[in-house]
Amino acid sequence: MDATSAHPRSGRPHDGEAPQPPGNPFAHLDAAADEAQSHVIGYLDAAAAHHEMQRMRSAAFDVFAPTPGERLLDVGCGVGEVARQLGSRVGKEGHVSAVDRSALAVSVASSRHDGTPVDYAVGDIMALDAPDGHFDGVRCERVLQHLGDPDGAIRELIRVTRPGGRVCVIDTDWSSCVWDGFGHMAEVTRRFPFPDQDAGRVVRARMVRAGLRATAPIPVTLRFTTPEDAASVVPFFDLHALGMCVEPELQKRFLDSVHESAGRGDFLFALTMWITVGRVAGA
Ligand SMILES: C[S@@+](CC[C@H](N)C(=O)[O-])C[C@H]1O[C@@H](n2cnc3c(N)ncnc32)[C@H](O)[C@@H]1O
Repeated sequence: MDATSAHPRSGRPHDGEAPQPPGNPFAHLDAAADEAQSHVIGYLDAAAAHHEMQRMRSAAFDVFAPTPGERLLDVGCGVGEVARQLGSRVGKEGHVSAVDRSALAVSVASSRHDGTPVDYAVGDIMALDAPDGHFDGVRCERVLQHLGDPDGAIRELIRVTRPGGRVCVIDTDWSSCVWDGFGHMAEVTRRFPFPDQDAGRVVRARMVRAGLRATAPIPVTLRFTTPEDAASVVPFFDLHALGMCVEPELQKRFLDSVHESAGRGDFLFALTMWITVGRVAGA
């Protein structure tokens, strides 16, 4: 993973696919219909531009603390925005590998290459194409919640991190959602097929079990005061996602209630993402 290049390349072949739940475009982007693919790319861009996500990412950047000259990995990089930010921090002496399972995500990410020392590659978090201890730090945002074997993924992140290096995992707790001003939210959330509702809060325990020295995780609660504002980050307010997961009758009751709340100006929704950093022993 050394070459500085804007070109995607394939990850190491491995025994079988990661057992990821079917029907989730974030887990199987390349297999999704064209419309779902462009929706996911649009969602990643809209989320990255959202002020609450930027606040969360800024907190994550501070605790990951990339420094000039480091060799870093962003796995499940999506469209590569964070990888490029890391690239500008590590500078010419450093290097960032941006890896995603989806060839589509990698091709979008590499098409946005901006000259920072980032290379983009297709690869699976369950079997990364990197030698043991290769990276000073690895980062993984909102990916574990889509995996069938998150513990296996953390073991693989540890394998590619040097002794004393750090593993930073960011994930959402979908069961942390709180809201006010409108109804039917609990019924709607139950229709969405999140494989791991508590993905964010359990990262620390997963890291500890895997032998990392986990620092205190940082919860960042994102809050939204209009449905339009929430729709960029939270799929429950996104018409496309709602259409895929929720039957028309419930959708209508929910959206009517949400719109009434927006009209009164009392719409409120919040969810928590967790930033957890673990140190690999042995430096
Ligand atoms: C919700 S997106 C997050 C993307 C990016 N980390 C961000 O925060 O904008 C999840 C990403 O994980 C990728 N992904 C899913 N399963 C993966 C796997 N087994 N290995 C590597 N990437 C994976 C998806 O293709 C998708 O780009």
